[in-house]
Amino acid sequence: MNTLTIRRPDDWHVHLRDGALLQTVAPATARQFGRAIVMPNLRPPITTAAAARDYRERIQAAVHAGGGEALAAAFTPLMTAYLTETLDPADLELGHCQGVLTAVKLYPAGATTNSDAGVRDLGAITPVLEALERIGMPLLIHGEVTDSAIDIFDREAVFIERVLDPLLRRHPGLKVVLEHITTSDAVDFVRTGPANLAATITPHHLHINRNALFAGGLRPDMYCLPVAKRELHRLALRAAATSGNPKFFLGTDSAPHERHAKESACGCAGIYNAPFALESYAAVFDAENALDRFEAFASEHGPRFYGLPLNDGTVTLERTPQTVPEHIDALVPFHAGETLNWQLV
Ligand code: DOR
Ligand code: ZN
Repeated sequence: MNTLTIRRPDDWHVHLRDGALLQTVAPATARQFGRAIVMPNLRPPITTAAAARDYRERIQAAVHAGGGEALAAAFTPLMTAYLTETLDPADLELGHCQGVLTAVKLYPAGATTNSDAGVRDLGAITPVLEALERIGMPLLIHGEVTDSAIDIFDREAVFIERVLDPLLRRHPGLKVVLEHITTSDAVDFVRTGPANLAATITPHHLHINRNALFAGGLRPDMYCLPVAKRELHRLALRAAATSGNPKFFLGTDSAPHERHAKESACGCAGIYNAPFALESYAAVFDAENALDRFEAFASEHGPRFYGLPLNDGTVTLERTPQTVPEHIDALVPFHAGETLNWQLV
């Protein structure tokens, strides 16, 4: 198979940032995807429908400025609200009904970039969870405990056991996406869980294991959260993504940080994979002899879980090698300097 035409895909988890960085990264995502679920972890975070509406306008303006009218018309940012302990359930519900807010993002406080306004006490958000459950609005979860006594490589598995499993039992009707899963524990939990539980999988967690962080020296460009795990986990993620199971779908977690912020004594977590995301995923499906299942993972499972229509139109990938640039402006893209065997036409 030398060309692959699939229904236009979506990215169900992306960080587009704001200001100058937004101008660089928003067109890259729009060139690859029809829609994207945009993370709200700005400073200050997006916590109201009004803030989400303004941010959506800035995103659309950035896509227009960087890619022109046609690209802007073809791309739809889907907005999320950042769950704090004081978030107003009525504002969420209204924002959802008005088509401004698609989902809500739960960051345990301290788990990752700009998560300090996140949730410390799950009891405090019970009214919000009840509202989400009632209106069918998805809760997107960064699934890691923040307890420094827990080994960083175990934080996802411990979160599932201590937090997620009890939460799903308390709110059996809640639609939950466990974001950017990194372990076989998460794969098993989602696979055997109820139909209202799904997961996104990033390209980087399909390509790298934790050795990549230390290959020949410290590699800040391979650092993200949840951090990459052992090889056995990477293999479980590849099996899940290529299985055809509708509970697993595409979410890049593209998370750009400028080079100086990555290459620092306290480097930021995040991998910028947006510019070659489809090519990166296609390489995985190709290597696993599963190109026939790529369209379902990239373009069907996500919208069906969210209860949204599938996109019209198609994109085509060609088996033509391309070398990923060492940097794009001040950003180092995932696969920098490597050759990918596929190219988006
Ligand atoms: O690596 C990550 N970067 N993981 C996250 O959860 C957040 C993200 C970011 O915003 O930089
Ligand atoms: Zn993220």
